[in-house]
Amino acid sequence: MHIISLRDLSDSDLRAIVHRGAAFAADRTDHDEPLRGRIVGVYFSRTSTRTRTAFTTGALRLGAKVIAYGPGDLQTNTGETLQDTARVFGGMLDALVIRTAGSPDDMRTFAAHCGAVVNAMSADEHPTQALADLTTLQVHFGRVEDLRVVYVGEGNNTAAALALALPRFAGTHLDLRTPAGYGLDPALLAEAAALADRHGSRISERHDLTDLPQDADVVYTTRWQTTGTSKPDPDWRTVFAPFQVNAALMDTFPKAVFLHDLPAHRGEDVTADVLEGPRSIAFTQARHKLHSAMAVLEWCLPR
Ligand code: CP
Repeated sequence: MHIISLRDLSDSDLRAIVHRGAAFAADRTDHDEPLRGRIVGVYFSRTSTRTRTAFTTGALRLGAKVIAYGPGDLQTNTGETLQDTARVFGGMLDALVIRTAGSPDDMRTFAAHCGAVVNAMSADEHPTQALADLTTLQVHFGRVEDLRVVYVGEGNNTAAALALALPRFAGTHLDLRTPAGYGLDPALLAEAAALADRHGSRISERHDLTDLPQDADVVYTTRWQTTGTSKPDPDWRTVFAPFQVNAALMDTFPKAVFLHDLPAHRGEDVTADVLEGPRSIAFTQARHKLHSAMAVLEWCLPR
């Protein structure tokens, strides 16, 4: 079974993975090595600290053996097609965890030949980040339902994944505040709004920081240069500057915790006092990437 997009998960699958991730957070040893005898390939053509470590250690903890491939390792660099690479992987690996700069279509090519493919981040969506985020909410609040999340920053692949996941929990409100010109893809926003309609939740997007909901439970931001890539507009930092999460902004939300998918750039997307402050659970969120990865691998590789 594959998770290339959150669209690949039914509502019950989504809930099951979040709850299983929360169970692993309570006790990451509470399993009988369900992946024993399996081989998991971990192919990252882009940098990663958390996701790669989470899926590698998660697979090892669940009893699998792991082969890691970096950006310079495969014959795709010398011209072999993805199709041929996928056929070879499919004949040897039980699962492939993959991060690319390409489109999900590349991952579907692997999925055509491999039994289980997990998107560890593509240009348009970061599904396992959203699964870790929801696991973090489940652990911290004891529920995802009815939570109000204010997302401040670029409508990037992390925001896209959150928009495809959170509205599937009743009573939630995902309130996106994105710089003008850096919002969610309108088609994805419409898709998320339809999900919200179906599940009795809300999603909204604005390009300013007025009328913020004081009763927000969570403030979430991401780094401004996703995957370290620069932006064509030389003045983009001017556009992003008002969207920094700092103490003044956090004062607007007296009860909110702070989430960040990391890596953070202190002084840009978030100030150090917020990231290191008592309301930040960003590094706990990073730790839950392991627990969520274990739940994902267990779901993708049933016995
Ligand atoms: N949040 C996240 O995906 O971190 P990495 O890029 O370090 O994996």
